[in-house]
Amino acid sequence: MEYKRVLITAALPYANGPVHIGHLAGCYLPADVYARFQRAKKRDVKFVCGSDEHGVPITIRAMKEGISPQDVVDKYHAIIKDSFEQMGISFDIYSRTSNKIHHETSQAFFTKLHKDGLFEERATEQYYDENKDMFLADRYIIGTCPICGNENAYGDQCEKCGSTLSPEQLINPRSALSSAVPVKRITKHWYFPLNKYEKWLNEWIVNGKKDEWKANVYGQCKSWLDSGLQPRAMTRDSNWGVPVPLEDAKGKVLYVWFDAPIGYISATKELTNQWSDYWCSEDTKLVHFIGKDNIVFHCIIFPSMLKAHGGFVLPDNVPANEFLNIEGDKVSTSRNWAVWVHEYIKDFPDQQDTLRYVLCANAPETKDNDFTWKDFQDRTNNELVSVFGNFVNRTFVLMHKLCSGRVPPVHDDLVTDADKAMVAEIAIAKQKIEDYIENYKFRDGLFEVIDLARKGNKYLQDNAPWSLSKTPEQQAENQKRIDICLHVCLQLTANLAILANPFLPFTANKMCRMMKVVERMLEWENAGKMNLLKVSYPLRAPELLFRKIEDMEVAAQVEKLKSNLTKTTSANVEQTSTDPSTKAQDDKIVETKPEAVAEAPIKKAEISIDDFSKMDLRVGTIMKAEKVEKADKLLKLELDMGDEVRTVVSGIAMHFKPEEIIGKQVTVVANLAPRKMRGIESRGMILMAQNPDGRLIFVSPLEMAAAGSEVR
Ligand code: MF3
Ligand code: ZN
Repeated sequence: MEYKRVLITAALPYANGPVHIGHLAGCYLPADVYARFQRAKKRDVKFVCGSDEHGVPITIRAMKEGISPQDVVDKYHAIIKDSFEQMGISFDIYSRTSNKIHHETSQAFFTKLHKDGLFEERATEQYYDENKDMFLADRYIIGTCPICGNENAYGDQCEKCGSTLSPEQLINPRSALSSAVPVKRITKHWYFPLNKYEKWLNEWIVNGKKDEWKANVYGQCKSWLDSGLQPRAMTRDSNWGVPVPLEDAKGKVLYVWFDAPIGYISATKELTNQWSDYWCSEDTKLVHFIGKDNIVFHCIIFPSMLKAHGGFVLPDNVPANEFLNIEGDKVSTSRNWAVWVHEYIKDFPDQQDTLRYVLCANAPETKDNDFTWKDFQDRTNNELVSVFGNFVNRTFVLMHKLCSGRVPPVHDDLVTDADKAMVAEIAIAKQKIEDYIENYKFRDGLFEVIDLARKGNKYLQDNAPWSLSKTPEQQAENQKRIDICLHVCLQLTANLAILANPFLPFTANKMCRMMKVVERMLEWENAGKMNLLKVSYPLRAPELLFRKIEDMEVAAQVEKLKSNLTKTTSANVEQTSTDPSTKAQDDKIVETKPEAVAEAPIKKAEISIDDFSKMDLRVGTIMKAEKVEKADKLLKLELDMGDEVRTVVSGIAMHFKPEEIIGKQVTVVANLAPRKMRGIESRGMILMAQNPDGRLIFVSPLEMAAAGSEVR
């Protein structure tokens, strides 16, 4: 079916933290590639997004930081919006759900369902934290798991044994927010009868969408439908959110997953008076780009809401990506194991397309994938720089050198089959890329772009115009073949700009500048044409499209990740949604994980045996120990290392008296770079074990070892 309009949404990110590259790879980048492609096809496109500013995580962050929820969302909305802009995510609007228009729109939506008598009102007992004066979402109740005895199980799930729980099952429940023992209170809520939409959903998804939707998306929907749907509360007790528009609903707000998706509609309203053309007519193609933790909300709950309300289009597709891990480990916002977009932009100014390239080439389209800085470097240097950048640069340099800076003509009599074959490749690539993008296979599409540049390089290499022009005489003799080759390469360059544009928009713009063409040339219908650059048109000097990533930069980024890794603190709130498919349905879906629960100490990243063997560990015997003047914590030690006596300054003075430790054997990192402390040069470091109670214990051989013995 041909659609008149394409309405593209990208999941509204929670405004309780900045966005990281996992967000980009999972949702915003594919959505942007798709939107840019559709615009290049001259389709009527609206691409909408905004900040999700309600929900428990935001109130909790506010509580922990001692500021208001509005302050929290103001802060992060600005950071997130800027990150997207900098990365070239081309939303037509980036709105926010604390806007008036959104409050009105979502309230009107609720009111319509209420007037139609769709909600069921139910009074239930729920846990209440009297210290914090609030009802507790299941995730915010902690207690002992009745199944495995884990003392830190959540009210919806035990992460140790994996059991799905309800707060009532927990032994000794306590509040995750204040550690108070929660009490039961009666509260009334409005439930949406999802069960009544089960049949329709089965019809729509299982019989209608299963072949179109991605397997991961369809699979999750199917398992939800198979286990049966339950009514779901669409209101919450809270003072932060969209107030429930009913008389008898003081202190109640709309459930965040009720209001947030309606945010797509409010954002479109804010964007254009014609919003209903996009939302309310059958010839709109609605596509929701999301991460996998959002599948059930976009495929089951929101469509049922739209259906119940009536008059809205339903999503044609919901291309959800899986997760992107970082350096082999799951992203964790509370542990700060993430690559933040606003920091990338600072560390790599003007390298947006490099990140766009790597994230798209390695996108978690069908399974979780891993981002490593080494892979970032390899892909940049070996693909972007050596293949794409190199082709464009060589073409421009040669054209300036051998064709006096102008587009050379074609000489029909000398055109070869190889020239024709190269030209034919452009149309083939165009078709493939187009099909891939239309089917949400962005990695494959991007691969074809690079592959076409690779073919360009080979064509250039085979023709080797430089070897046809070693002397002025030789060049004169071969000028016609040189002209043809560079003509083809230049038209291919123009075509590459068009084909790369959805993925690498900054690069495509630079290329337009170099070629002195207007951006309109980038319209998709121009791809495949061989007259994009007019013969004898003068072109600019080449600009550097991409730069190499140095080993140093990789090392610095890896180091930064590791050193930023924090232990979980109460000031951090995990940002990502938990995977709802693993949980019971009735109100067990939670947006975040609180982490008032102690986590095991952070383990360091894996190292190789080579890394380990860089350390020179030796046994030393303490010969002398004395306090360092004016330094409470430091002891100056003289160590017998077998072949020498070393001075080591150690921060153990609060734990040991100098006279107690004479004669003890210790383990020394002997090749640690010397360091001056209080004017004394310390050569090495001694290893200590730290007990959980803070006590220090020497790491010593169990029996006397010869001083200087190697520890391996
Ligand atoms: N804020 C949610 C998340 O980050 C996504 C909301 S998408 C919307 O997981 F549809 F509700 F807007
Ligand atoms: Zn358990």
